Amino acid sequence: MLDEQAKKTMLRKIPHGLYICGVKDGENLNGFTASWVMQASFEPPLVINCVRKDSGSHEMIKKSGVFALSFLEEGQKDLAAKFFKPQSRVGNKFEDVEFIEGTETGCPLIKDSLGYIECRVVGSVEKGDHTVYVGEVISSGIYREGNPLLLESTGWQYGG
Ligand SMILES: Cc1cc2nc3c(=O)[nH]c(=O)nc-3n(C[C@H](O)[C@H](O)[C@H](O)COP(=O)(O)O)c2cc1C
Repeated sequence: MLDEQAKKTMLRKIPHGLYICGVKDGENLNGFTASWVMQASFEPPLVINCVRKDSGSHEMIKKSGVFALSFLEEGQKDLAAKFFKPQSRVGNKFEDVEFIEGTETGCPLIKDSLGYIECRVVGSVEKGDHTVYVGEVISSGIYREGNPLLLESTGWQYGG
């Protein structure tokens, strides 16, 4: 029998970073705060990115087959907060955020970040309320040195 409280407590102990996942669908660009991200293979270089099915970005990744991750630095909590609101409610989240479109994917990359990876979707697992997108890293760049923003440091919860 599953002990709901124990499950929640233990799952919340899985450490996470915070990223802005940049997505696109044709001309439409978007981004959302992501935390369920990890490396999944050295060769080829793969990462997994778990994306909620009820988000606008989910459909965009499904259609375009690409996404990018910008790595936030410690202290960039405000930027993370801006991107966890849905585009359907707040409109263009990139309006006052400097970005470039990635050379390989066209997905938005945030200039004020530690750096980025661009990924092509090579697989997916559509089971629960999030889809596990497996992305091959096809481009990467460093903008500056620094420590990553960790979910634990923000006091927010995403998990359980
Ligand atoms: C701390 C935190 C971590 C989050 N991590 C994820 C995540 O890993 N995957 C995900 O799909 N959504 C995650 N979200 C939720 C999305 O940021 C949220 O659903 C966003 O509104 C989606 O934007 P969109 O509808 O414009 O795509 C997280 C939210 C917070 C507050």
